[in-house]
Order: sequence, then structure tokens, then C-alpha cells
Amino acid sequence: MTTTAHSSRARPARRLTALAVTVAALLGVGACTPDQQPAPPGERVEVFTWWASGSEKLGLDALVEVFEEQHPDVSFVNGAVAGGAGSAAKDLLDSRLAAGDPPDTFQAHAGAELADYVEAGQVADLTDLYDAEDLRDAFPAELVARLSVDGRVHAVPSNIHRANVVWANPDVLEAAGLDPDARYASVDEWLVALEAVEASGRTPLALATTWTQVHLLETVLLAELGPQAYAGLWDGSTDWAGVEVRAALEDFATLLTYSNADRGGLDWPDATQRVIDGEAAFNVMGDWAVAAFESAGLEPGRDYVHFPVPGTDGAFDFLADAFTLPVDASNPDGARAWLRTVASAEGQAALSAEKGSIPARLDVDPDDLSSYQRSAMASFAEDTVVPSLAHGAAAPAATLTAMTAAVGRFTEGTTDVTALQAELAAAAAG
Ligand code: GAL
Repeated sequence: MTTTAHSSRARPARRLTALAVTVAALLGVGACTPDQQPAPPGERVEVFTWWASGSEKLGLDALVEVFEEQHPDVSFVNGAVAGGAGSAAKDLLDSRLAAGDPPDTFQAHAGAELADYVEAGQVADLTDLYDAEDLRDAFPAELVARLSVDGRVHAVPSNIHRANVVWANPDVLEAAGLDPDARYASVDEWLVALEAVEASGRTPLALATTWTQVHLLETVLLAELGPQAYAGLWDGSTDWAGVEVRAALEDFATLLTYSNADRGGLDWPDATQRVIDGEAAFNVMGDWAVAAFESAGLEPGRDYVHFPVPGTDGAFDFLADAFTLPVDASNPDGARAWLRTVASAEGQAALSAEKGSIPARLDVDPDDLSSYQRSAMASFAEDTVVPSLAHGAAAPAATLTAMTAAVGRFTEGTTDVTALQAELAAAAAG
């Protein structure tokens, strides 16, 4: 398998979407270009996300296309800020919210992250929109619960992602003498395979900047503790100072020794690309990564394989993207128009088709989805669903920030497991 062969097999449907987007851009549809008169504020809606490039931008573009069909009277203004998982967007958003200059709508994760914005009084109650559009029954009840505070719903979900997925390059595995169809029951078993890849001269585990390291860590905690005890980390019933967490941190430290040394300077698409290009064997990433494999024209099973992070089969490490109506938005009507598109079956299908996620709506026809998406849907329905740390479902922003800083100190030098465990425990205690 060569890079050239991969990149020459772009899927026709994606090419058409990309072409349509390019034509739309040339025609000046969508975000304003400098030589255009911007629409008056009441007719523009600034949508703030971190879907700024690659497959994430294709997902946003597809949603915008539906928005423009459904609401031709409102101009979409793209407020996207680059940086996976909102690593740069969230800080900028916080300063805009603090300055009373919010976008008209912004991306937020279902769960603790959204609850932070609600508690700070920064986002409006959308229960009336849910009632008017019959949305309560449109989404899984558990998801609506993660978007609600005291029974009032504060965001509209666009899609659901799974975080605990390993992506692998079969050719690299074969070159290391491994069976690409092998699955590993535990991190320990997986380490044997990582060692074989190391001996073959390729990178065993492609890793990127700190948030992706936190993402890896949460999946290793899930593997070591199991779903119940992992969930207990977020409600205080599992002891962060205990021996199981210690064992997970030791596994995490060992996994890091199989990762690329330049990880600090990479974002998730760079690490995933190393698997696509055959430079690395494995990457742990949320299932937005499937869109990167698909848009490179790769066939699942033949050109790439995926499986739950070893030790996490039967658990669905969950996150959902959602959109809000900030208090003091300059165009609340435009924002509500955006939210109606986000909630629509058409909008949900368009976004997820490009992004690899599962539509949050329950009535999207699975036959319209890819085989990966159908497998994720089945797993979401059957597996034990647990909340993601790195993607805002499990813990408030302050906890995630403190844990990310602790992981950064650890991976950038200290490699002191005892210190890492103490810092994570302190961050969890608040
Ligand atoms: C997550 C987000 C996903 C995807 C990913 C990588 O936090 O929920 O939709 O954008 O970050 O940037």
C-alpha cells in the first residue's frame, strides 16, 4: 500500500460535495468574502466551532448547505477556530463570553461542559424550542438528560461520537509479522503487538498533542477499570488514588514509550495521517477519524482496520456535539434557525455522513449510513455508555484543564506516575 495509491482513490460522493462547496464559495454563498457587502447583523448568524479543516470542515460545510436551503434569508458566518477538540477555540470563546461578545451560536459538548455554561448563565434555555419542534422524543432520552439542567434543555445535539477506537494500518501490521485481523483482549496483549511493530522499524502508536494524550489516557483508564469503575471516577465513587488507577497510569506510561517523539507538535489529523500513510501502525482516536480514512479513499478491512481500544470492548466512550443559544447573542432568531437545521433529520444526516459520527436523531435511516456508522450505532445501543473526559462529557472544564496540564507535565518530561496520580486525584477533587 502506498500513499499515492491511497490519495488517488477519493470517493466520488465526497469529491462532488467538495466541488459543490468550492463552487458555492466561488459564488459567494455562505461566509462573506472581503469584496462582498456583509449582510446586516440581523440577517447573519455567526456559528462558532472548531471544525476548521479536513473532514471536520467537510462536515460543517455539509450542514451549512442544508442550512442555506432551509433558511435562505440568513447568511452563515463561519466563526471556526482551528485546533482539535476545541483546544484553542474554547479559550477564545471564554474570553468572548466574558466580554459580552458571544457568537450567535457555539459548539459545546453534551454533559459537564455544557452544564458549566448553563451554571455561568451564558446560554439560554431552549426548552421552548424543544416543545415547539417536538425534539424531546427526537433524541435518545439519555442524551437529552446530558443537555439538561434541572429539567430545562440548553442545547441541540448535532451528532454522537465514540472515543475508544483504535485505527490501524494492515500493511504495517503484516510487515511486523502481525495478523491484521487480530484483536487484543487487554492493553497487555496489545503491548506485545506494539513491541513487534517497534522491531519492524515503524512507529507503533501515532500520538499527537496533549489533548490526544488525555484522550488516550481516558481509554486506558476505561480498559483497566471497566465501565462501572471508570464512570465512578466522575461521580466520586471510584478512588483516583487506588491501585487500579495506578495500574492504568503505568500502562499509559508504557504506551507512551511506543509513540512518536514529535507528538507535542501534532494535532489529531497528523497522527491519523501517519497510519493512513503507513508510517505508523496504530492510532487511538475518536471516530471522526473514520472520515479521514474515507476521504483518503480507503476501504475498511482492506486498507484500514478499527476496533475498540483493547480492554474496552462492550463500552462506548461517548461524546456528543451540540449547539447553544448564547445569552446576548446579536441574532437570536438566526441562531434558532441554525438550531432548527441542526435538529433536522436532513442536517443530522448531512453532517454525520461527512464526519463519521452517528446522527443524534433516532429517526435517521441506518441504510443511509456507512458500515462504520451502522456498527457504531449498534454499539451505542448495546454497549455500556460512559462519558468522555477529553470531550467534555465527564468533567467540568476546570477539572479537564487541570488534568490536561498534569498529563502534559508527565508526557513532556517528568514521567513520574506517582506525581501524575496525585495531580489527577487533586484535579478530580476540585
Ligand atoms: C471533539 C468533537 C468532535 C471533533 C473532535 C476533533 O471534541 O466533539 O466533533 O471535532 O473534537 O476535533
